[in-house]
Amino acid sequence: MALDKFVITGGNRLKGTVTISGAKNAALPVMAACLLGEEPNTIDGVPDLADTRHLADLLADLGARVERPAPGRVQIRVEDEGNVHAEYDRVRKMRASVCVLGPLLAKRKKARVAMPGGCQIGPRPIDLHLRGFRALGAEIELDGGDIVATAKKLRGAHVFLGGPFGSTVLGTANVMMAATLAEGQTIIESAACEPEVVDLADFLNAMGARISGAGSPRLVIDGVDRLGGAEHRLIPDRIEAGTFIIAAAMTNGEVALKNVRLDHLMAVVHKLREIGVNVEPSDGGAEVSSARHLEPTDVATYPYPGFPTDLQAQLMALLCLADGNSAITEKVFPDRFIHVAELLRMGANIRKEGPTAIVTGVKRLIGAPVMASDLRASAALVLAGLIARGTTTVSRVYHIDRGYERIETKLRSLGADIRRLSE
Ligand code: UD1
Repeated sequence: MALDKFVITGGNRLKGTVTISGAKNAALPVMAACLLGEEPNTIDGVPDLADTRHLADLLADLGARVERPAPGRVQIRVEDEGNVHAEYDRVRKMRASVCVLGPLLAKRKKARVAMPGGCQIGPRPIDLHLRGFRALGAEIELDGGDIVATAKKLRGAHVFLGGPFGSTVLGTANVMMAATLAEGQTIIESAACEPEVVDLADFLNAMGARISGAGSPRLVIDGVDRLGGAEHRLIPDRIEAGTFIIAAAMTNGEVALKNVRLDHLMAVVHKLREIGVNVEPSDGGAEVSSARHLEPTDVATYPYPGFPTDLQAQLMALLCLADGNSAITEKVFPDRFIHVAELLRMGANIRKEGPTAIVTGVKRLIGAPVMASDLRASAALVLAGLIARGTTTVSRVYHIDRGYERIETKLRSLGADIRRLSE
């Protein structure tokens, strides 16, 4: 599994219906939040991915019983609160493991979580998370590469979570989770407004928390003494949906998406319409079609509700086929451009200048062996392969398996020629 590759023969139009999975980036903090409660939780719509399995293993290390009684359903109940250590081996494999820090600190008064390193998309500091915990009264030190956070009692506070690149999604989740059990009121300013933060707040409120303002930059959290358990269905994955919309557009296809929230994709839909792609709401979903002609555009990624950085690489693959010059500026992760070199191997014309890529459309992309490097960059290479002349081999697809549930099965059901092979 770890060394699988995709072999794609380009040229097929995508046609048909695809069902979008629950959101990975909602699943991870919601699963971590179960550490806060006293009773069992049931979460539906959990995508079966390397990342969600990984978090389940980490929760098991931390004394939770995690069961999957049915596809998409995960039940979590904490049985033993003795261990507070998320080890380097776990955190190294998935940075988002850091979202157990807030729940452990609030519920067990102590957390020891390996400091996550950087990743392919650049340095990924967590200083804002720590600033928030300190404001709530935690003491934080670094010991042997681990963050050790302790607090006899967390106290509500007024916290500013803005950083050099705007708000922080997991930082907001972490501090919000910690504040649910703090004494008194916490106000988080410059909170992330992502739908995944709202989903987490809904889940926490169902467990008995008192959070208001989710979805706005100002969160108000009134601490409670205890949290129970909850039943919750996760929101659809807006990044998976955006990826399939772009795939349909690139192949000149006609695709219906089920389980999609277009209101979570406003910036994406707006941009794609400008480029010439038809995206229309339909009964509980969306329909996408595209005329062959794609207009170039300028786009910059921003925190929600701006254009998401997690769709930047996929949009770049699309703009490789537009009729003229486009500029893509990355405002969230300025180093997130490793896919550029791989797209160049497929005949793209892209010039990078600082955090901006200038993409000049070409008549066609040409199949080539390319390498997946991070989750979303890899998805962009698969999209490019769908339209390239000849055969594209994308190796190291374990990056894609971290965040897309059976992407090749879903693409094949729409008519794509894509196969998974062991390397
Ligand atoms: C989450 C998403 C990820 C997405 C990203 C931005 C999950 C599991 N992952 O990651 O898919 O690409 O949001 O939408 O939900 N920063 C700091 N200090 C901090 C924290 C962040 O400077 O303490 C900077 C980061 O380096 C980055 C920016 O803030 O430049 C945004 O990062 P952040 O929102 O924290 O990303 P994640 O929550 O890790």
